[in-house]
Amino acid sequence: MNNEIAIRLTNINKSYNMPSSDKNRPVLQDLSLEVKAGESVAITGPSGCGKSTLLNIIGTLDKADSGIVELNGRNISRLNDSKCATIRSNEVGFVFQLHHLLPQCTVLENVLLPTLPIATANSPEASHKRALQLLEQVGLADHTNHHPGQLSGGERQRVAVIRALINKPSILLADEPTGALDRLAAEQLASLLVELNQSEGTTLITVTHSSTLAAHMNRQLILEDGKLF
Ligand SMILES: Nc1ncnc2c1ncn2[C@@H]1O[C@H](COP(=O)(O)OP(=O)(O)OP(=O)(O)O)[C@@H](O)[C@H]1O
Ligand SMILES: [Mg+2]
Repeated sequence: MNNEIAIRLTNINKSYNMPSSDKNRPVLQDLSLEVKAGESVAITGPSGCGKSTLLNIIGTLDKADSGIVELNGRNISRLNDSKCATIRSNEVGFVFQLHHLLPQCTVLENVLLPTLPIATANSPEASHKRALQLLEQVGLADHTNHHPGQLSGGERQRVAVIRALINKPSILLADEPTGALDRLAAEQLASLLVELNQSEGTTLITVTHSSTLAAHMNRQLILEDGKLF
């Protein structure tokens, strides 16, 4: 961890239209957050409090109504969709509760998918080498030619984590990554996230209902009434 700020949110507001009325429902209210480069942070809070909304705003998948989002010192709040897409594929990795691996592709092909749009930046050979090295690091060296259907839930999530890291993002955002796993697989994935956060120097934000996973992170925050505590 160094003292550079990887993620800075300043006075973020976000509300959604309520389909049944003309009222807006505030989800995030004047929310501010600073996360240092290399730091790992857990965000917990009740269902519907806005955790996924917050992660999507940080990861440029969604926009705040007001406030400033800075990633690695760059204000991304007003960037257009195509600039956001470039930042997303270069700087941000996502892991979701369900792995979203393509069933018809092998483990190795799934891991390499995010490298295709930016093949000119990283040579295919370098990406291939990195994929194999990361798969070995997570104990899946013997599974590179398996299809997702031939893996356990925990193994699939490990592949999803490696796919999220393949382009060397500076920021990894995980939304309930252990939500669909049993206790042992969840524990293994939590350790793996911490290990990769350290070996890759990635800044990690994990949304979780699991106090075990949260305890693995440097800092635990609760999202309540639209703010982080
Ligand atoms: N696209 C949308 N349109 C309207 N309302 C939305 C939209 N996305 C989320 N919401 C609402 O915003 C609130 C926060 O949703 P969000 O998905 O961020 O919660 P969460 O904390 O991730 O919940 P969970 O723990 O169940 O995943 C919820 O009340 C949800 O219904
Ligand atoms: Mg959610």
